Amino acid sequence: MCGIVGIVGHTPVAPLIVDALKRLEYRGYDSAGVATIENGNLARRRAEGKLINLEKRLKSEPLDGTIGIGHTRWATHGVPNETNAHPHFSNGVAIVHNGIIENFAELREELKKDGYTFDSQTDTEVVAHLVARELARGARPVDAAFRALKRLEGAFALAIMFKGDEDLIVGARNGPPLAVGHGEGEMFLGSDAIALAPFTNSITYLEDGDWAVIRRNLIQIFDMAGEPVERKRQQSVGTSFLVDKGNHRHFMEKEIHEQPEVISHTLAHYLDFVGGQAKSFDMPFDFAKIDRLAISACGTAYLAGLVSKYWFERYARLPVDIDIASEFRYREMPLGKDSAALFVSQSGETADTLASLRYCRKAGIPIGAIVNVRESTIARESDGIFPTLAGPEIGVASTKAFTCQLSVLASLAVKAASARGKISADEEKALVRQLSEAPRYASQVLKLDKQIEKVARELSQVRHVLYLGRDTNYPLALEGALKLKEISYIHAEGYAAGELKHGPIALIDETMPVIVIAPHDRIFDKTVSNMQEVAARGGRIILITDQKGAQHATVKTMETIVLPDVPEMIAPLIYALPIQMLAYFTAVFMGTDVDQPRNLAKSVTVE
Ligand code: G6P
Repeated sequence: MCGIVGIVGHTPVAPLIVDALKRLEYRGYDSAGVATIENGNLARRRAEGKLINLEKRLKSEPLDGTIGIGHTRWATHGVPNETNAHPHFSNGVAIVHNGIIENFAELREELKKDGYTFDSQTDTEVVAHLVARELARGARPVDAAFRALKRLEGAFALAIMFKGDEDLIVGARNGPPLAVGHGEGEMFLGSDAIALAPFTNSITYLEDGDWAVIRRNLIQIFDMAGEPVERKRQQSVGTSFLVDKGNHRHFMEKEIHEQPEVISHTLAHYLDFVGGQAKSFDMPFDFAKIDRLAISACGTAYLAGLVSKYWFERYARLPVDIDIASEFRYREMPLGKDSAALFVSQSGETADTLASLRYCRKAGIPIGAIVNVRESTIARESDGIFPTLAGPEIGVASTKAFTCQLSVLASLAVKAASARGKISADEEKALVRQLSEAPRYASQVLKLDKQIEKVARELSQVRHVLYLGRDTNYPLALEGALKLKEISYIHAEGYAAGELKHGPIALIDETMPVIVIAPHDRIFDKTVSNMQEVAARGGRIILITDQKGAQHATVKTMETIVLPDVPEMIAPLIYALPIQMLAYFTAVFMGTDVDQPRNLAKSVTVE
């Protein structure tokens, strides 16, 4: 899932393309490149690693030209070196690509037989050669692109530029998103509207199977049959300002600290704190009329969904099937007419989540989506959206988006419970009041940073960490382990505390820290028993609990992090913070690239 940009402009475009790529770096940062048409010839600069390397390269070897395409890469086929970096060239054709060409091996063989040679190990280079072959066969640029597109299988967003035509970029979309930006005598193409925000807010999103001819004064969109199609032009709300870190060392730290505020905004969007009830808002389905809710998502968003299973089932008595989207999309789940589907995605572009949504669309059930990017594909393809008001999340490891997803899900659980008649008005009032207090408790937890940093120093010395929790703290144990491994590269596993004795207990010795997430809730004593089992085997326990829990835990711990006593329902919103902080400080001690950890990307638009 790379980021792509194209500009047909009237001033030198290379700096503008780099500016747009900065906004797309969340999609990958293995390498980057820009190509323009300079003095009538295709010219490019590419560099391995972060965008900053490309910027340095362009400083020493600037690129002229008023038309250009650019790319920031998350490697799928071929190692992240300069040769594999985009744009790829073939006989007067330049191409940038996001996605995977699934039939590339077969196309490659075919092109080799025709005498084409390959410089890179990428799947993308076949597209450049295919277009070039059509040109060599006598096709004009637009026709050459269209004929090549028809040969491609898989997922792609493409921008294609031609030597000899300084007023043409062909864009195409099948899967990953692609937006066209309308300017005055200049036009733009980009993976999302935010990339184009410094240039224009007037955006047309291509739909799957669309391809577009982009010239300074004209945009034409066609379908795969070559027929012109009309696509709506809309005003994007993307901001032209690049978000900065403020006084924080990393975006992740800043985003952790923003949580009290963004949780508050998100909850206030769904809950009437004064009236003590869920607000009325547009619903894609009626909670009172469904008997099953299928939730799917990936990564951290999946874990938010997993927390909500406990809430929907406990408070609303609504059975929830929760799936990792890459499993859901292929497992052929039967969906009855009384089912509804809910997708959770910060970016709204995750390929597996989108494919799962489309599976539900085919099944004909109503679809809701919890998204942070309201203009995303998942948002647009849903029957109704529930926005998270987290603001742009830049750190690749999700923090504030997670707690905002939890905020929406908790609000929906209250709404469902009320709509299904499973809670009284007083009970609803009590739950809404509890949720309204979450931002205040979250602020208090942020003040524990010194203690958490001290624990993190210890964690940075070890190779393996185990996280345990029960009930809604089980998904949090999974999230704690995920966060730690993502950014510190320390191996970590999350387990349901009760499952300890069925396997992971074999790993425990005096070198193994075990982080136990256990507020003093209904099943606290059960978790204490599991801690005893760890202690008896020499394991070093780090207990994250509340004041009551700290008093009642009869086990010797290496460290006890004491949070405020909070109501059971909001505990996941509060306990998310110390586990994020623990991962963050550990990564800082390890000296890793916290905001852009190796091999990861923020938006995953490939399978
Ligand atoms: C990537 C990100 C995670 C995120 C997941 C799902 O793995 O690094 O932080 O949770 O994708 O992304 P989504 O945009 O669908 O929430």
